[in-house]
Amino acid sequence: MADRPYIVGNWKMNGTRAMLSEARAIDRSAQRLMKVEVALAPPFTLIHAVHREVEQIGVGAQDCHSGPDGANTGDISAAMVADSGAKFVILGHSERRQDHGESNALVQSKINAAIEAGLRVILCCGETEETRDSGDAENYVCNQLKESLPSDFNKAEEALTIAYEPIWAIGTGRTPTVDDIESMHKAIRSLLISLYGAEQAAEVRILYGGSVKPENAKELLSAAEVGGALVGGASLTAESFLGIVIAAA
Ligand code: G3H
Repeated sequence: MADRPYIVGNWKMNGTRAMLSEARAIDRSAQRLMKVEVALAPPFTLIHAVHREVEQIGVGAQDCHSGPDGANTGDISAAMVADSGAKFVILGHSERRQDHGESNALVQSKINAAIEAGLRVILCCGETEETRDSGDAENYVCNQLKESLPSDFNKAEEALTIAYEPIWAIGTGRTPTVDDIESMHKAIRSLLISLYGAEQAAEVRILYGGSVKPENAKELLSAAEVGGALVGGASLTAESFLGIVIAAA
C-alpha cells in the first residue's frame, strides 16, 4: 500500500476561475508537506486550468462516462478526462448514485473505462442512515463494493483507491465514531483480501469521507486502515483544506 496519507479535495459543483488562487495556494503548501499526497477534483470546467496552475498536487475529475465516444450530450469520456490533464477520477459517489440513479453495474463499467484510459480511480461506497441503524452497514457496503469493483483487478490494483463515505455524514457535520470507521475499513480490507489475496489487497488505500474538517481530521485519520480522506466542503478554501493536510502529515 502506498505509505503516504492521501488527502483528496472534491470541489463538487463549486468553483469558477476565481478559485484558481485556492488551488495555487494548496499546491504551494503541498510542496512543503511531502509526507502527504494531496489532490483536488475540481469541476470539469476547471480541470485543465488547475492542471496548468499546479506543480505538486494531483488533479482529477468527479465522474466520467462508461463509453469511449458518441451521441451522449453533456457527458465526458474517460479519455477526455485524461486529455484535460486529470490523473484520476472519483466514481460511484453517493451524490451520483442518488441524484443520477447510478447502479453498481454502471459504476463498474465507468471504472473499467477509466482504467483503460490510464486514470487512477477513487471508488466511493457508503450506507444510508437507515441501513446504519438497521445494523447491516458492513454487509451493505461490502455488497456494493463486490458489484462495483473493476472487472479485471490485475489491471487496476495500483490504480485503485476506495473511499468509505457514510451518506449520513456527508455535509452534515456528523461523523461515525473512530471504532465504527475502523470496523468498516477492516471489513473492506477483509473483502479485498478474500477477493484478491493479501498482497494485492494491500495496494489499495481506503479513505474516509464525510464531514472531515481541520478540527477532527487528526482523530479520524488515526483510525486503523484509514489511508487518508476524501474532503468536500472543507476543501473549498486553501486554509481549511491545508488544515486537514497538516493534520495528516
Ligand atoms: O466527496 C466528499 C464527500 O462527499 C464528503 O463531503 O466533506 O462536505 O462532508 P463533506
